[in-house]
Amino acid sequence: MKNLQDKMSVCFSQSTMMLLKKVGDVAKHMGCKAYLIGGTVRDLFLHKENLDIDIVIEGDAILFGERVAHELHGIIVSHKRFGTCTVTTPEYVKIDFATARRETYAKPAALPEVEFSSFKDDLVRRDFTVNAMAISLNEGDFGALIDFFDGVGDIEKKHIKALHDKSFVDDPTRILRGIRLERRLGFIIEPHTANLMRRSIEKEIYKRVEKPRLRDEIILALKEKGPFRIIERMNEFRALKIVHPYLKLHKEVDGIFTAIDEACGWYNDNSPRKRSIEKWLIYLMALFGDVSYDGALYFCNKFELKRGERLRMLSYKKQGTKVLKTLNAKRKILPSKIYRLLEPLSHEATLLLMAVSRSDIGKGRIMEFFHKYNGMRASVRGDDIKALGVKAGPHFAKIMEKILYKKLDGILNTREEELEYAKKLAKRRL
Ligand code: CTP
Repeated sequence: MKNLQDKMSVCFSQSTMMLLKKVGDVAKHMGCKAYLIGGTVRDLFLHKENLDIDIVIEGDAILFGERVAHELHGIIVSHKRFGTCTVTTPEYVKIDFATARRETYAKPAALPEVEFSSFKDDLVRRDFTVNAMAISLNEGDFGALIDFFDGVGDIEKKHIKALHDKSFVDDPTRILRGIRLERRLGFIIEPHTANLMRRSIEKEIYKRVEKPRLRDEIILALKEKGPFRIIERMNEFRALKIVHPYLKLHKEVDGIFTAIDEACGWYNDNSPRKRSIEKWLIYLMALFGDVSYDGALYFCNKFELKRGERLRMLSYKKQGTKVLKTLNAKRKILPSKIYRLLEPLSHEATLLLMAVSRSDIGKGRIMEFFHKYNGMRASVRGDDIKALGVKAGPHFAKIMEKILYKKLDGILNTREEELEYAKKLAKRRL
């Protein structure tokens, strides 16, 4: 049996190594066995440190996690139903513990019936050979590689290979996982596995999967580096219909994804008020470019998108084209008008407009918005307006808004000028 301790010491940070040793000590103490599993083991062979640490316990993973959390002064979150827990330590290492389990699927794509079981059974239930390798953390054979399905051979061949023929029937989310992994690692889905995937897609078994599980995979695909290559591969597998029945990959999408990267790069380097951007959502909105508003609404409902994500996606669908047409116009547009057009949209929607705009005029106006207008406030405050005898309500809001617009347009330049104008507006209704 190959021992990987030296490789681990080179590839893993000191704190990860200490943590893994500690897990071995706890296993010894508790009289059970612990194994490092999944992506961390796979990436070790690719000389990458994967900080998403998954550990399988032949024993009670929650009791185990509690012990580790106690010894490392970490925080534990447990999921009793699944026999799993996550421990976060002060060094910010996140460790997932799971009890070794066997899964049986009553129906295709149904949630598995879980039975606690041996470590080998746990490996058999996994998706791909490269993900089904493990490393013992136990005293006596710490670092020993356990590779029942020749994951190492498939890493050498650069193959993504399913463990068994029912893999994509049991769990069609693996179709998206396989494509994502293939593109991320620069591997190839080996021909038999590709056929199994195609068969599962043709039979539309994905329709029986719980939608949030598919949604999470779609989001993960869009969060990868170079998401267009994943979308392109999904298209080759006719798997875009998993996302939406009418989704088509048009040839412009590649260019739009590149333009999104450029727009986001510009935003990060130049925008004075940086907000964190959900870039995956911009890609998603771009992908839905040709799908109708109702089609996008159907997607949001079916995949239970969060309220904020949904609002951003739908507001773009509703307003995007109209706003862009106005912004691209050659005639002069006042800054307050640009503000009124873009302020109600999310930054994600605005960055997509910047990416799809074919006009330098339109792009320039969006940049101007991010640079100057976004987040601008009047110098007078609410108390100043109250002091003029205006009560809170629509008239009050209108006054504040009018002052801001005049400030944006460079008509009011000082607080005094704003106050003068406020007095005039206040009188109009007195
Ligand atoms: N797994 C599986 N089938 C799924 C999801 C996960 O068999 N539908 C198994 C795989 O063995 C995988 C492990 O669970 O390696 C952990 O899953 P996850 O953390 O999602 O993936 P990683 O392989 O760790 O990949 P990543 O690098 O993207 O975190």
